[in-house]
Amino acid sequence: MASLRYLSALLLLITSATGYTWPNPQLDELERLLYDQFGFNAPGILTSVLPCNSFVEFNGIANRSNAADWIRTAYHNMATHNVEDGTGGLDASIQFELDRPENVGDGFDNTIGFLTHGINRYVSVADIFALGAATAIEQCGGPKVPFRGGRVDATAAGVPGVPEPQDSLESHIASFAKQGFNQTDMITLVACGHTFGGVQHSAFPDTVPVPAGLDDIDATFDNTPFTFDNAIASEYIHGTTNNPLVVGHNDTTNSDKRIFGSDNNATMSLFANDADLFKSACGTLLARMLDTVPSDVKLSDVIEPLPVKPASMLLKYTGDNTFNLTGLVRFYNMPESNSRTVKFVWEDRTGKKDPSYAVELGHTPLMASHGLNDGPFTALWYSVGPITKNFTLLDESTGISKFWFEIDEGDGSAGKVEDQGGLGFPLADTIMVAATTCTDTAASAVRFDVAVLASANPSRVYIRSESLGSITTAGGTGTTITVIETDVKPSENSSTSGLYDIWSIMLPFSAFTHVTTSDANVEIVADVGGEELFTASFFPTEEFPNCT
Ligand code: HEM
Ligand SMILES: *[C@@H]1O[C@H](CO)[C@@H](O)[C@H](O)[C@H]1NC(C)=O
Ligand SMILES: *[C@@H]1O[C@H](CO)[C@@H](O)[C@H](O)[C@H]1NC(C)=O
Ligand SMILES: *[C@@H]1O[C@H](CO)[C@@H](O)[C@H](O)[C@H]1NC(C)=O
Ligand SMILES: *[C@@H]1O[C@H](CO)[C@@H](O)[C@H](O)[C@H]1NC(C)=O
Ligand SMILES: *[C@@H]1O[C@H](CO)[C@@H](O)[C@H](O)[C@H]1NC(C)=O
Ligand SMILES: *[C@@H]1O[C@H](CO)[C@@H](O)[C@H](O)[C@H]1NC(C)=O
Ligand SMILES: *[C@@H]1O[C@H](CO)[C@@H](O)[C@H](O)[C@H]1NC(C)=O
Repeated sequence: MASLRYLSALLLLITSATGYTWPNPQLDELERLLYDQFGFNAPGILTSVLPCNSFVEFNGIANRSNAADWIRTAYHNMATHNVEDGTGGLDASIQFELDRPENVGDGFDNTIGFLTHGINRYVSVADIFALGAATAIEQCGGPKVPFRGGRVDATAAGVPGVPEPQDSLESHIASFAKQGFNQTDMITLVACGHTFGGVQHSAFPDTVPVPAGLDDIDATFDNTPFTFDNAIASEYIHGTTNNPLVVGHNDTTNSDKRIFGSDNNATMSLFANDADLFKSACGTLLARMLDTVPSDVKLSDVIEPLPVKPASMLLKYTGDNTFNLTGLVRFYNMPESNSRTVKFVWEDRTGKKDPSYAVELGHTPLMASHGLNDGPFTALWYSVGPITKNFTLLDESTGISKFWFEIDEGDGSAGKVEDQGGLGFPLADTIMVAATTCTDTAASAVRFDVAVLASANPSRVYIRSESLGSITTAGGTGTTITVIETDVKPSENSSTSGLYDIWSIMLPFSAFTHVTTSDANVEIVADVGGEELFTASFFPTEEFPNCT
C-alpha cells in the first residue's frame, strides 16, 4: 500500500515535470482540446464523436460512424509517408487527394467538412485530424494515445501510395515499410483500425454485394463496429468473422486475410487471447501513426494536462489610473470543497510583493469539467472576474508582473502555493486592451484602443489575428488559416493617460472573424527589448460594446 502511494506520488512528479510552461498559446489550445472534454469551458468539437455510433451524414446507412471515418482519414493521410526522403505523412494533404482511386468513399469528405471547423492559427488541419483520431480511439473504448502537436499543413497533393485491398501481400509489406512500419506493425495497425467500421457497397461494390431491396450496405469488420476491442482478432482466429476483407467472395480483395495470416497468425492469436495486450499495442502504434509527419516538421513533447492552468487572463485598461483583470484558472484533479479558499496573489512591476496584493477567487459547483464517465480526470475552475463579481482592480503605478495561487483547504492542513514550480505565472502589463475599445457596426470594424506603458518603449506593437481561406485543386479544397499582423502606432487619435499612452487602430471584421468554433481570436503583441509580450486571446466583438 505504502509503495503504491509512493509510486503514484512519483508518477505525479514525473507528469508535472514534463508539462510545458504557461503561457504557450499553441500548447494551451491543444491541451484544452485534449483535456477540457466535458462541462465548464469545454470546446466541444471533438466530443461530437459521442455516442460512438453518431454519424454526421444521417443518410440512413447503418454501421457508419464519425469515429471510424476520423480514424481512416488519419491513416490515409499518413500512409503516403516515405521514410527514405522524409516526405508525406500526417500533413492534411488528403484534402487535395480525394480524386484518387486509393481514397474512394465519402468518409474523407465527412471528416474534412466537420473537423476543419475546429482549426485556428494554433491548431492546424493536420493536428485536428490527429486529435480527431486520437479522441475517437480513446472515447470509444481504446487506449490513451499520447498526443504531440505542431503538424504543418501541406498546400498541395503529395505523391500517391495508400495500400488498396487488391494489392499483393508483398506490395503491402513494402508499402508499410515505406511508411516506417515492419510486418508485425502492419498486422497490428490494420487490426487497430479495423476494429472500427466496415466496407461500404457504394465505395467497394465488388467487395460488398447488396441484398435485394437495399441501395447500400456497410459490412462491418467485426460485430462491434463502434467500439475498440479485440473482437477483430478473436472473431478472425475463431473462424467466426464476417470481415469483408477476410471472407469476401473475391479473394483478390481479401487483404486483411493475407495481412493477418502473414506471420501464420502469430500476432493475431496473441491479440485474440489478450485484450489488454491488443489495447496497449494499439496505443503505441496509433501514436506512431499520428506522429508520422514530414521530416522537416518538429512535433512538441507529449502534451500532458497542466496541473494548474490559467485561461483568458485579460487585463483591461479602465482609465482612472487602474486596470481590471478577469480570467479563469483550472485545477486538475481537484475535488469540490466548501471549506477551500483559493487566492490569486501577485507581484508588481517592480518585483514587490505586498499583503494587499491578493484576492479571493470565485467558484460555483457548475465550474467543473471532466473526462468521459467522470474520468480519467476531473477539474475545478475558479474565476477572477465576472461570475462572482470578484474582479481585481490593479493600480497602474505598480501594475503586475506575475501571479500565483494560494490554496487553503480550511481543514487545518498546511496551505499550498501553486506557482508553476517557482516561476510564477507571467502577465505582461506593458500592453493592454483599453476598455474604450468598441465595435463600429456601420464600418464593419472594431476600434482597438491599446494601452501602452510609455516607459517600456516597445519597438513594435501589433494586433495578431487570423482569417480563414481555402486552396482549391482538382483533388479537393483545403482550408487555410492566414495569420494577420496589423501594426498599432501612435496616431493623431492617441492620447496619454498617466503612465500609459492610448494608441488606436481600426481593424475590419474580416481580419478576425471566421467560421470556426474556436475562441482564439485576437491578441495584442509587443516587442520589448527582443522579447515578445502578448495578451490573452479575446473575442473583440463579444468583449466590447458598440461605439457611440
Ligand atoms: C493494407 C492496408 C489497408 C487496407 C487495404 C484497408 C482497406 C480498407 C477498406 C477497403 C475499407 C472500406 C472503406 C469504405 O468502405 O469506405 C476500410 C475501412 C476502414 N479502414 Fe482500412 N485498410 C487498411 C489499413 C488501415 C489502417 C492501418 C487503419 C487505421 C489504423 C484503417 C482504418 C480503417 C477504418 C477505421 C475503416 C472504416 C471506415 C468506415 O467505416 O467508414 N485501415 N479499409
Ligand atoms: C517490428 O518493430 C517492432 C517495434 O514496433 C519491434 O518490436 C519488432 O521486433 C519488429 N519486428 C520485426 C519482425 O522486425
Ligand atoms: C451492419 O453490420 C451488421 C454486422 O455487424 C450487418 O449484419 C448488417 O447487415 C449491417 N447493416 C447495414 C445496413 O449495413
Ligand atoms: C476480383 O477483384 C478484382 C480486383 O478488384 C477484379 O479485377 C476481378 O475482376 C474480380 N473478380 C471477380 C470474379 O469478380
Ligand atoms: C489463421 O486462422 C484462421 C482462423 O482460424 C484460419 O482460417 C487460417 O487458415 C489461419 N491462417 C494461417 C496462415 O495459419
Ligand atoms: C470577494 O472578495 C471579497 C474581498 O476579497 C471577499 O470578502 C468575498 O468573500 C469574495 N466573494 C466571493 C463570492 O468569493
Ligand atoms: C472589470 O471587469 C468585470 C468583468 O468584465 C466587470 O464586471 C467590472 O465591472 C469591471 N470593472 C471595472 C472597474 O471596469
Ligand atoms: C481618428 O479620429 C478621426 C476623427 O474622429 C476618425 O475619422 C478616424 O477614423 C480615427 N482613426 C482611428 C485609427 O481611430
